[in-house]
Amino acid sequence: MKLLYLMIALMLNSMVLHAAEDSTIELNSADTDIHDKESLRRGAYLFINQCTSCHSAKYMRYSRLAKDLEISEEDVMSNMLRFGATKISDTISSAMTPDAGKNVYGVAPPDLTLEAKYRGVDWVYSYLMGFYRDENSTFGYNNRVLNNVAMPWILAGNQETMSKEEFSRDMRDLTNFMDYMAEPIKPWRQNFGKYVIIFLLVLLLPVWLLKREYWREIHGLR
Ligand code: HEC
Repeated sequence: MKLLYLMIALMLNSMVLHAAEDSTIELNSADTDIHDKESLRRGAYLFINQCTSCHSAKYMRYSRLAKDLEISEEDVMSNMLRFGATKISDTISSAMTPDAGKNVYGVAPPDLTLEAKYRGVDWVYSYLMGFYRDENSTFGYNNRVLNNVAMPWILAGNQETMSKEEFSRDMRDLTNFMDYMAEPIKPWRQNFGKYVIIFLLVLLLPVWLLKREYWREIHGLR
């Protein structure tokens, strides 16, 4: 029993420590709009062109994103398919196998389909905005949010040549696309939610009248 208490105390302790660790990192607000299809399309192109050489998004199909983001099938077939994908119904694969990634970077680049759900959009946006020059790190760049990061900063060129506004817009689009990818039904769910609430409000009147009708008799008997 004592051992159990000790284990619980240790667990709580480490949870508090973790929370304290995370709360020291200040995150920037991603401020994305999942209903902005222009932004999602730009994000999709950025993701596919810049990130899939290392990261896959193996739960996302090209056909689904083409339909949701209103990108024509020809456009997808000629400009988007990468790394072994030949059909529009294929999922987003990566050029790198997890083993190769582990050999080269020490950590396999994780699949990013659900990344925005796992870390949250503010974290993803802050991570993408958080790379800074650090001569002591392996690839010359470190990250404010993920210290000693193993990912080479492949957008260093963009970050240096673009204005801060342009670059942060790109990173916001990328985050927005990753948010969409983590739950493609989200824009639809949010729109539909409004109708559900209107429906429930309208339903309230007959339900209230019905309740009054039932209770009238019961009150009458008393
Ligand atoms: C050259 C290979 C490479 C490319 C290209 C690349 N990454 Fe990475 N990425 C990695 C590696 C390796 C890690 C693991 C880093 C670590 O855990 O230290 C990583 C980690 C990440 C993480 C953090 C995962 C987590 O939760 O710990 C995110 C988010 C991410 N990458 C996003 C991107 C995005 C967006 C792009 C495209 C702009 C991209 N990456 C391009 C190699 C790459």
